[in-house]
Amino acid sequence: MGQPVTLPLTIGIIGCGNIIAQYLATLPRLDAVRLVAVADLDPARAQAVADDYPGVRALGVQELIDDDEVQLVLNLTVPAAHAEVALRVIAAGKHVYGEKPLAATSAEAAEVLAAAAEAGVVVGCAPDTVLGTGIQTARRAIDDGLIGAPISATATMVTPGHERWHPNPDFYYVPGGGPLLDMGPYYVSALVTLLGPVASVIGAASHTRDSRVISTGPRAGEPVPVSTDTHVTGVLVHESGALSTLVMSFDAVATQSANLEVHGETGSLIVPDPNHFDGEVKLHRLDDESWSTLPVSAGYVDGGRGIGVQDLALTARGDEPRAGGKLAFHALEVMESVLRSAHSGRAVIIESSCDRPAAVPLTEVSLSPTPR
Ligand SMILES: NC(=O)c1ccc[n+]([C@@H]2O[C@H](COP(=O)([O-])OP(=O)(O)OC[C@H]3O[C@@H](n4cnc5c(N)ncnc54)[C@H](O)[C@@H]3O)[C@@H](O)[C@H]2O)c1
Repeated sequence: MGQPVTLPLTIGIIGCGNIIAQYLATLPRLDAVRLVAVADLDPARAQAVADDYPGVRALGVQELIDDDEVQLVLNLTVPAAHAEVALRVIAAGKHVYGEKPLAATSAEAAEVLAAAAEAGVVVGCAPDTVLGTGIQTARRAIDDGLIGAPISATATMVTPGHERWHPNPDFYYVPGGGPLLDMGPYYVSALVTLLGPVASVIGAASHTRDSRVISTGPRAGEPVPVSTDTHVTGVLVHESGALSTLVMSFDAVATQSANLEVHGETGSLIVPDPNHFDGEVKLHRLDDESWSTLPVSAGYVDGGRGIGVQDLALTARGDEPRAGGKLAFHALEVMESVLRSAHSGRAVIIESSCDRPAAVPLTEVSLSPTPR
């Protein structure tokens, strides 16, 4: 990385909406990072955060980007603003770590990565859930040969629709939303972590109804038009030859399928929800009579949203962080390509690739139990 990272890495957050609370719960526990400033298009939201966190300043958006104390901007804005904010941060010579997806489209995401490479700054991106003990223990089991050579995986995310709990669910039902782009980043990042990058995809998709009715909040009873696929299926052909089957649905009511299963020549794994940091990993080997739970053997213990930023801060200069821009770009291209394949009826070759991120050894993340 061209720009040096000095520790603790000083962070400014842009975007003080729904998800910031989860970051604010984790960042004070991380010794390699220190939050110094917050900003939002709505200054009152930034001020409310600053009021609760001594030492954290509320600034204007550009003021935060230009602030001498800020080394990295944590971009928690909405997906449509991810690329624009990231490009402004990079233009100021700062590192940037964003919420998922890396950008609304892979074309915008490519601009972000190109600008960062030119400026010599680092790009990181959620999800960092895959650095937690759940996915990392499963990865360790695969790497240790507990299931033999991996053959296939299934990834299943089923919910009858976010309009049942979200007061403003409109963005889930337009292009750029839908179950794949909303939840797929967790599943595709986990599949790449477990089985490596994807070479090609085949997709098929549908939607059951042209409008949804909001169930909660002041708009309850109001219909929301649907202009995107709400049930998306796909097959990912990994470079290794393993095949992952994906089912992402805002239409199906419920499921008893595991979020993720991975099958190898001599065993099968049940892998916990990749939207969470922990969870039980279960193994069934060829001659076993039943499933057994594996001991936690890898990953950040007690992880929360933000551990990817600490991981970035501790990554050697010049190395790609585990929750890095290249993985996020690859995941975005895979998801876009599943949808493209669904509409064209043809397999799509994935142009990008990325290294399987380095495994995370079992690591205590909570260095100090109380906020600094
Ligand atoms: N809400 C969740 O449960 C959740 C979970 C995981 C990931 N995420 C991701 O987190 C991101 C943010 O989601 P959220 O739910 O917090 O959204 P939100 O709408 O609640 O908050 C976004 C905030 O960003 C601000 N903002 C928007 N554009 C901006 C800009 N150009 N400059 C400065 N500020 C701007 C808005 O004013 C708002 O306060 C999204 O990428 C989402 O996918 C959200």
